[in-house]
This record gives sequence, C-alpha cells and structure tokens, in this order.
Amino acid sequence: MDKYIINGGKRLTGEVEISGAKNAAVAIIPATILADEPCILENVPSINDVTIDLRILRELGADVKMLNRNTIRIDPRPIRDMPVPYELARSMRASYYFLSTLLNRFGHAQVPMPGGCYLGDRPMDQHLKCFRSLGAKYSIEHGVVNIEADTLYGTHIPFDKVSVGATINAMLAAVKAEGQTIIENAAKEPHIVDLANFLNSMGADIMGAGTDVIKIKGVSRLHGAEYAIIPDQIEAGTFMIAVAATKGDALIKNVIPKHLEPITSKLRKIGVVVMEYDDSVRVIGQGNYEHTMVRTMPHPGFPTDMQPQFAALLTLANGTSIINEGIFDNRFRYADELRRMGADISVDGKMAIIEGVDHLTGAPVKATDLRAGAALIIAGLSTDGVTEIEDIYHIERGYDNMDGKLRAMGADIVKRTFSESIRQAI
Ligand code: EPZ
Repeated sequence: MDKYIINGGKRLTGEVEISGAKNAAVAIIPATILADEPCILENVPSINDVTIDLRILRELGADVKMLNRNTIRIDPRPIRDMPVPYELARSMRASYYFLSTLLNRFGHAQVPMPGGCYLGDRPMDQHLKCFRSLGAKYSIEHGVVNIEADTLYGTHIPFDKVSVGATINAMLAAVKAEGQTIIENAAKEPHIVDLANFLNSMGADIMGAGTDVIKIKGVSRLHGAEYAIIPDQIEAGTFMIAVAATKGDALIKNVIPKHLEPITSKLRKIGVVVMEYDDSVRVIGQGNYEHTMVRTMPHPGFPTDMQPQFAALLTLANGTSIINEGIFDNRFRYADELRRMGADISVDGKMAIIEGVDHLTGAPVKATDLRAGAALIIAGLSTDGVTEIEDIYHIERGYDNMDGKLRAMGADIVKRTFSESIRQAI
C-alpha cells in the first residue's frame, strides 16, 4: 500500500515540464489497431492507464516496444481475434475504445464493461447508440459487450448528450466505415482534436474535430504514422493550482496556453498572476485569493477534471465560493477528506459551498479518485504540517512522476510503500 507523505508549507518555484495528455494517449493507443502498419507514438505519459492499455495490446498479440520512457512503437499486425481480458478492461474507463477498434479490424469484438473513477452514474447509452446507428449489433452478457457488424455504414449521429468517450468511439468506428458519417453535438476537448489529427496522419478523412459537428469520410485502409501526443491540459492546470496554493512562482513548460484558458481565467479572477508565453505559462501566487463561482462544462467550459483541485485552492480564499458540477453526479467525494484538514465545505448534490478558512492542517487522508487525489496533494502542500495520502494508485493512474516533479520544485513530498504485513501490524 503506497502513500504520499507531504511536509507542507514550502513554496513551489522553478519550473516543471508537462507530460503527454492521458485522455489523448488512452484513445490514440487503441487507435493504432486500425492501421495495417506499425505506428510510433511520442510524448506518451508514463502513467498506469497507459501501462494497462499496452498490456491489453500485448495480450491481444500486438508487438509493443518501448523505444524510450515516452516513445512507443506499436505493430498491430500480429493481433489475434480474441476477447479483451476482463480485469484489465475493468481497471480503466478508456478500455471501451477497444470496442470500435477491434470491431473495425475483425467485424466483431468482445470487451468487458469499463471501470475507471467512480464519479456517479456513467452509462454507455450514447456509445451503444452510435454503434447501432453505424449498423452494428450488440449484446451485454456476463459483464462483456459483444458487438458485431460485417460492414459499418456511414450515417448521421446526433448525440443526446455531449460525451468525450462516445464522440471518440464514434470517430474510431466511422473512420473505416462505408460512406460519410456526421457526428452532431460532439465533444470538443483537446484530446478529441488530437485523436482526429492522429487518425488523419494515418490517412483518415476527418473534418471539424474541435467543433460540435464532425464529418468523417470512411477510408478503406489506414497506414502507419509517427505522432507526438499533445501536452496534458489537466496536469498543467493541476500544477498551476499547486503553485498558487503554495504562494509560489514557477514556469509550467510544454503546454498549449489556449487549452488552459478556462483555468487561467478562473485563476486570474481570484487573484493569481498567470503570464502566457508560446508554450509555457508562469504562475505567481500571492495567497490572498478572492472567492468565486465555478460551473464545470464540456470544453471550452471549465473542465470537470479540474474541479477538485480548484476546490482545494478555494478552501483558502476569502469568503464564500460555489462550485456547480455540471458533468458528473458524484464528484465531491474529496470533500470529506478536505474537511479532515479543516476545510469548511458543504455539499448538496451537484453543488458545493466553500467557506474560506485562513489555514488547513495536515492529516491522514485517502484519495477517492484520480483528481480528488490531486486535490489532496494541493491541500497538503499548502498546509504547515504533515499530510499522509493513502490509495495513491488512483493518482498514479493519471499523473506521470507527480511526486518527483513536485520535489524538483521545492516540495517536501515522499512516496512510502508499506507492505501489507507492516500495515496490519500498525
Ligand atoms: C472522459 O470521460 C474523461 N475520461 C474524464 O476524465 C472526463 O471527466 C470526462 O470525459 C468529461 O470531460 C477519459 O477521457 C478516459 P463523458 P467519459 O462521456 O468519456 C454522461 C479524468 O480524471 N454519459 O464525456 O467517461 C456521463 O455519465 C477522467 O481524467 C452518458 O449519459 O465522460 C457524464 O455525466 C475522469 N451516456 C457525461 O455524459 C454515455 O453514453 C459526460 O461523460 C456517455 C456519457
């Protein structure tokens, strides 16, 4: 059982290099199955969700080689026609991208229902709607989605709800379908655009990614490609908030400032200084922040994946802040843990009211999901005293070397591994 132990109160300074985007990588890696030649992916984050994706590819028979820590060569040609392993698929959300990619390659696929962070109800009706519209048949038995179609036919897919996952599955399914597909009410997140750029670099014909209407002309084959994944918008935002929470001054490098705009504008609104450069932002914290209102929305609105981290910062702002979670039903599970540290948060369904306090105190807390874990790190860094965070496996699913990067910026954070027997003895 691993823990982070943080001795807080140290300002974050210097610089940090942001890694590749998790939510782009976990879509682009399965997309290599669509090619009939090897692909080389660069700037791939070294995170557990990527490790699981690569394990699934290897189990299916793909030839996967790490060329260095963040560059992977994937040869999909030896892949066998077999079900995706249950436990691997269940340990992350994005395993559902193997549905569209294996369906395209073999005319059928068997993929267990996905797992991932518990954020309330996370149905797949929009994914299944898009497969049905393209002409596929599916059934769900024993926890496995079985899907088949001799041929997929291009069509019109008006989503009832903006969904990142369903938009990506529709693109991955339609890219080799017969004819044109028009996706309406599509998600516009940066990782949607990154996937479209990757597929187009393999010879696909996708237009409009990043807008709410995506047009895809199906092609008969996709060739190999070399592609660098975009920087992680959410990792960058997390570090911006960590610097602000510690009243620090640091340069966040290898970012696309445009992707960070919804975060930058909120930080500036409460009194954080953010200076934008071509591929970096400088954040200067001063520690006397104003309260504010945040509503999470699909991109380009304020990202739900930044909500817990921003809440951690607002616990130390003057006055009453309000957070409306516009995407998920249950994304305030971190509130209990922040209350252990002295935060004043009241939650009512999809809304949280935060009364600013002048300081938090260190405490033993638990990460309940990936971004909740990041929020606890930020709270721990901002307090004088020791914070111990358990269940950090959630955090390591989506952050590349988080503790190492923070230490390089002056934080006192260590990762401790406790064997089960010691834990029981304690
Ligand atoms: C993606 O999840 C991200 N995960 C999430 O990031 C992110 O929070 C979310 O998009 C929203 O931006 C990955 O990319 C792997 P959705 P996804 O489909 O695709 C409902 C992180 O921390 N919905 O856009 O699962 C759904 O319940 C993770 O990195 C349906 O009703 O999210 C939710 O309320 C956490 N039916 C809303 O839509 C469907 O078929 C948005 O979900 C699909 C979704």
